[in-house]
Amino acid sequence: MTEDAKKFLAEVTALKTAAEKAATAVSDGKALERWRIEFLGRKSPLGRLSKSLTSLAEGDRPAAGKALNELRADLKAEYESLQKRLGPKKAGTDEARLDYTLPGVQPPIGTLHPLTKTYYEITAFFASLGFNVAHGPEVEDEFHNFGALNFPPDHPSRDAQDTLYVNDEWLLRTHTSPAQIRVMLEQRPPLRVIVPGRCFRADAVDASHYPVFHQVEGLLVDENVSLGDLKGTLTAFAEYIFGPDTKMRFRPHFFPFTEPSAEVDISCVVCGGEGCRTCGGKGWLEIAGAGMVHPNVFRNVGYDPEQWAGYAFGMGVERIAMLKYGIDDIRLFYENDFAFLKQF
Ligand code: PHE
Repeated sequence: MTEDAKKFLAEVTALKTAAEKAATAVSDGKALERWRIEFLGRKSPLGRLSKSLTSLAEGDRPAAGKALNELRADLKAEYESLQKRLGPKKAGTDEARLDYTLPGVQPPIGTLHPLTKTYYEITAFFASLGFNVAHGPEVEDEFHNFGALNFPPDHPSRDAQDTLYVNDEWLLRTHTSPAQIRVMLEQRPPLRVIVPGRCFRADAVDASHYPVFHQVEGLLVDENVSLGDLKGTLTAFAEYIFGPDTKMRFRPHFFPFTEPSAEVDISCVVCGGEGCRTCGGKGWLEIAGAGMVHPNVFRNVGYDPEQWAGYAFGMGVERIAMLKYGIDDIRLFYENDFAFLKQF
């Protein structure tokens, strides 16, 4: 073997060592491309060695050619394995980092709170009957919350044990009924309003009580309004919210601002009236208070009770939402638990 051929083979070995060493430092697509140009490109030592092969003595060419082919195969294999390790063809480019087959990132768009949903449904029903939506303040005075609604001065619900007072005269409204007074002082009959809103009572927290809760008040004042109108309207409401098979009943009750007064029950949404745990074996569930507007309330707002008649009702939004969706603990509404809220 000639000196030239020995030099040729030594160069092949050195090149292999150099390429392998450089390969260990290749960490991204750009470096890989530099490596490819350096060791496999047209101007690489490999290219130069290929050309110089013909200048070797004829007897040395087969061995030199074989070594050169092996080197080329090794370098290509090295290149391919680097490519695989670094990812797809265009490893390192922005395009390579994007995998179009992955599902997209869903931006959290949120859902309506179950209480908001229920309130919208209640509103939609009464709006379809021509009721307007009104609002009242959450901090009320005794006149609107109690006095004008015909509560006697010593009525127990005026007690600080039931009621959250801001000072001697102002309190967090205990129901949405004070809005009846505000609406009647501002408008003349005939009128039809519903008033949704937050109410507050100094109740201890348990599965069915919370110091903050929501009601929807209803008030209709016109000539010749009867208890039958009230009952028909609430029956249609119950069927709209809970389904056409829902039955409804009035249970005699007392409210200072209505006479006669009733508590409104629907047939149990769970057992249909048979009696179960949800309805405590009674077959009925209370959803609202209601009655005919008391003549004293009309007098307090300057309406002539001989000329006008009206009905009023107040329903608990939490209660209706719990029955509608089968929620067994009122606290779930206020905990901001995503697992709970995402279901609506
Ligand atoms: N305000 C009453 C309550 O909170 C409900 C009600 C409203 C009753 C309107 C009759 C008429 O219990």
